[in-house]
Amino acid sequence: AIDISKLRDLSGVITLDPGYKNSGACKSEITFLDGELGILRYRGYSIEDLAEKSHFLEVSYLLIFGNLPSAETLEQFENDIRRFTLVSEEMKIIIDGFPRTAHPMGVLSALTSALTAFHPKSVDVNNEKDMYDAICKTIAKFLVIATWTYRKSMGYPLNYYDNTIGYVENFMSLMFKLPTGPYAVNPVIVDALDKLFILHADHEQNCSTSTVRMVGSSHAGLFASISSGVSALWGPLHGGANQAVLEMLEEIHASGGDADKYLAKAKDKDDPFRLMGFGHRVYKNFDPRAKIIKKAADDVLATLGVNDPILEIAKKLEAAALEDEYFKSRNLYPNVDFYSGIIYRALGIPTDMFTVLFAIGRLPGWIAQWKEMRENKEPIGRPRQVYTGYPLRDYVK
Ligand code: ACO
Repeated sequence: AIDISKLRDLSGVITLDPGYKNSGACKSEITFLDGELGILRYRGYSIEDLAEKSHFLEVSYLLIFGNLPSAETLEQFENDIRRFTLVSEEMKIIIDGFPRTAHPMGVLSALTSALTAFHPKSVDVNNEKDMYDAICKTIAKFLVIATWTYRKSMGYPLNYYDNTIGYVENFMSLMFKLPTGPYAVNPVIVDALDKLFILHADHEQNCSTSTVRMVGSSHAGLFASISSGVSALWGPLHGGANQAVLEMLEEIHASGGDADKYLAKAKDKDDPFRLMGFGHRVYKNFDPRAKIIKKAADDVLATLGVNDPILEIAKKLEAAALEDEYFKSRNLYPNVDFYSGIIYRALGIPTDMFTVLFAIGRLPGWIAQWKEMRENKEPIGRPRQVYTGYPLRDYVK
């Protein structure tokens, strides 16, 4: 029998798995996902139950600390987050340096990393209080700087967290409150956002989460690890897909609404175009989050009285793809990003902020996975490779 621990000495024995399609990188107690059956659970609770009955900070607590908080613990958690919502005025100088046209995800990644400079003390992962404070601090400041990326792009003055309202309400007031008057938060919008943040809160070892774990495995700090997660999420094959979906739907609408033409493009192997919001590395049946979001999109649009032709195009495209042999044979179904953008649009969120909203929702998952990785004392992430370059070459001038 082969002694696994000695494998590193057997040069040439390497599992080559590009894209880690079938390689586990860790053991985790956080999220259970069955791609065949379309099951998603956080800490054992079904995503359907959580989306319907819970709230974002409660789910955040559950993901990070393992159990649902009591009412008192949750209140304490919310208050502890409030303690850290002020962001250094000097961060504003950094924001000033960006052009207004900068993509909010680029600015968010940079600002998250910059927080390290203002909070340089590394977290003692063996000290419960230290860990707890670092978590509250990250949840508090991330929301504020995430919304500042939008305020910057609009040239508006930056807003501060309002300690008299909740976390999700604060997202709306940080984004849209003007200095000229009070901002009334619409409860329908808050409910929809709460649900969307919960649906995005964790998804086991996806690209951004694996990146957070990988960067954190070198014992880089929490802000640095989260910043790397933001960068990974930005790509259109991952979180950036929600922006790409809406741009695609707008393009279809602008060019006369011919969904079949785009379906044909997506199937054409000589055309790099993909149907954005379709397909998933793990879900090969359906994405349970997409089901919930599709219903939420219908509800929100009806409640807000929005009649959006983009939603009709999305439905047409989905129906056509679900009947199409190309998509059926490859198990390509709508994913979480297919409908989220339609809701964000109805809520008045600008398109290039969509992925920032994904990041706000995914933050507790990144934190939970980072914490678990450090507590489990996981080794530094360091994949191997199969070298395919030149053999030794003589250096001749
Ligand atoms: N449109 C057209 N064809 C597609 C699509 C699509 N959206 N997705 C996959 N395919 C095809 C591929 O061309 C490939 O076909 P082939 O077997 O003939 O070569 C087959 O389906 C398998 O696709 P892979 O790229 O090998 O699947 P993988 O698991 O690597 O990729 C991914 C998954 C990245 C999500 C892919 O489906 C995709 O690019 N989708 C569009 C982008 C998107 O919506 N991303 C969001 C994902 S969810 C999230 O991150 C929150």
